[in-house]
Amino acid sequence: MKKIHVNTSCPYDVLIERGAVKECGKYIAEVTSARKAAVITDDTVGALYGDTVVRSLENSGFECRVFTFPHGEQSKSLSNLGDIYDFLCEFNITRSDILIALGGGVVGDITGFAAASYLRGIQFVQIPTTLLAQVDSSVGGKTAIDIKGGKNLVGAFKQPVLVLCDSDTLKTLPRDVLADGMAEAIKYGMIRDSHLFELFEKHDLDTVDEAMDDIVYTCIDIKRDVVEHDEFDRGERMILNFGHTLGHALEAWHNYTDFTHGNGVAAGMCMISDRLAPQVAGRLKKCIGAYELPVGTDIPMNELLPFCSKDKKRESDMINYIVCEEIGKAEIKKVTVSEFSRLMGE
Ligand code: NAD
Ligand code: GLY
Repeated sequence: MKKIHVNTSCPYDVLIERGAVKECGKYIAEVTSARKAAVITDDTVGALYGDTVVRSLENSGFECRVFTFPHGEQSKSLSNLGDIYDFLCEFNITRSDILIALGGGVVGDITGFAAASYLRGIQFVQIPTTLLAQVDSSVGGKTAIDIKGGKNLVGAFKQPVLVLCDSDTLKTLPRDVLADGMAEAIKYGMIRDSHLFELFEKHDLDTVDEAMDDIVYTCIDIKRDVVEHDEFDRGERMILNFGHTLGHALEAWHNYTDFTHGNGVAAGMCMISDRLAPQVAGRLKKCIGAYELPVGTDIPMNELLPFCSKDKKRESDMINYIVCEEIGKAEIKKVTVSEFSRLMGE
């Protein structure tokens, strides 16, 4: 087993082990004195792993109930959050009990926010089952739901008490969902670790599973370092947004339907590198292509830029964007909206 200790305001461990889901009860019992565990999951993940998790929790002495909601981003909603609160209330969950998020980033984000807000805060565990959730959303404490005004606009910082990553769960992922997670993984290579990037270059979507434990470990360790330095997202944490300014604009242009976050990040990293770091763009695009992700877009820049200027990471009329002039090194740049438009060729 590999372990990463995350030293945030509420410290916790991330355990990385194939087969960990089957033994989750044992690991969770080591970090909590809770006797009741409320498992929150979606219908796809619940059908695949729900029984295994419940059996393991019950074998470790937890009283357990499961709340299942339909898979997909539309479930990261106020109405689903209300249903989760009602479920917790009916199960008489108290502050000394625990929530278990079993699923991808959608399950992790809404369960984390329920844990941050229900009874003014209770413990929760992340069992991320997508690559994106393992390398990114389950670690670092950002939790959120979407509202009509936009994605992730209501949320809280709430660190889990444990993250359990079982890379065997990634074997049941649809190919495009695995590829989505690869976009975020490649991002870590670009911003911090040229050796990690070289590992990606040696593989493709068909062969990457053999390197998965190392990839998950290295990506989480990079995220740990960034988050420990800037837990509340006031500066350095912004480097995790490489590719995200244009990526979010692409997602918003598509009205958040039929275009995933990972596809946005992949295209966004390539587009910014094409314009501002052409010396690395060729290698990046070749690598992104090997994971069946987009290396750009046909949408004209003048249609995307209005969405960039609505990015929630904007400060007044300034935009922060990230550029990697060398593989493994990221810089945060701050420019006006009109300067960003000029840089992007408009
Ligand atoms: P997701 O949770 O919607 O999962 C994608 C699909 O894969 C779903 O249909 C799900 O049912 C299915 N799935 C999950 N695990 C599976 C498995 N092991 N086998 C088969 N199918 C499985 O999407 P995601 O890409 O994991 O997460 C996206 C969400 O994460 C977005 O809401 C985004 O805003 C959020 N996010 C949060 C952070 C953060 O720091 N909190 C960071 C990045 C993204
Ligand atoms: N996913 C970006 C962050 O955690 O800051």
